[in-house]
Amino acid sequence: MTIHIKTAEDISKMRVAGKLAADVLEMIGPHVQPGVSTGELDRICHKYIVEVQQAVPAPLNYNGFPKSICTSINHVICHGIPSDGKILKSGDILNIDITVIKDGFHGDTSKMFCVGEVPSHAQRLIKVTQECLYKAIDIVRPGITLGDIGHVIQQHGEANNYSIVREYCGHGIGRIFHEEPQVLHFGRPGTGMRIVEGMTFTIEPMLNAGSRYTKLSKKDGWTVTTKDRRLSAQWEHTMVVSNAGCEVLTRRSDETL
Ligand code: MF3
Ligand code: CO
Ligand code: CO
Repeated sequence: MTIHIKTAEDISKMRVAGKLAADVLEMIGPHVQPGVSTGELDRICHKYIVEVQQAVPAPLNYNGFPKSICTSINHVICHGIPSDGKILKSGDILNIDITVIKDGFHGDTSKMFCVGEVPSHAQRLIKVTQECLYKAIDIVRPGITLGDIGHVIQQHGEANNYSIVREYCGHGIGRIFHEEPQVLHFGRPGTGMRIVEGMTFTIEPMLNAGSRYTKLSKKDGWTVTTKDRRLSAQWEHTMVVSNAGCEVLTRRSDETL
């Protein structure tokens, strides 16, 4: 098990990669409208990452993934594949997950978008999921454990009568897209690895309106949906552990953190 503790120089590069990933989410926001396809959103992001940012979209060809971003609509939990046939309609909720590589380092972040008018129950799922991420970020500092992070997320999600997806988790990140440790979104306080300064990882809770169980598409081998086809939401940030807390590397301008 190798945890890559980042040097000051590495962290400077992670800061750049994180900012670029956040910028893509800000750039794409106005394009998320009823009638647009997720294939079109993918093309816009791809062009922006490659031509404007002079960076690399990490998902493209990652373990065979065919597109540059992940787009997960409604009951799709994560890893949705953009397609020209998937047209957004009013009432949809959409997660866009962006990972860029710049100067050898990754920045990984996702957010939820509401398409047109979205029912209040869906808005509430989105809000509670974001609160789970923020509550977790709030406690990150040297000396806490991975179980502390998981516990905060599980506690808040379940207190709101949602379930937490267990098959997919946050992860160490740096020169490698998914490195150790695994950051589970459930757990018990004081258990698991202790966090130290210089670690970089994501937290990316997925909450379901119904049961926690997931289904992986046999057709495309990527798309993960809720087994009961009820809604799911996810938010993700990349962070670095500092001396007394953490710095969110993928913070957007609409966030205080
Ligand atoms: N960005 C996703 C994550 O948060 C991973 C996507 S892998 C892909 O870890 F191949 F589906 F793009
Ligand atoms: Co991630
Ligand atoms: Co991601």
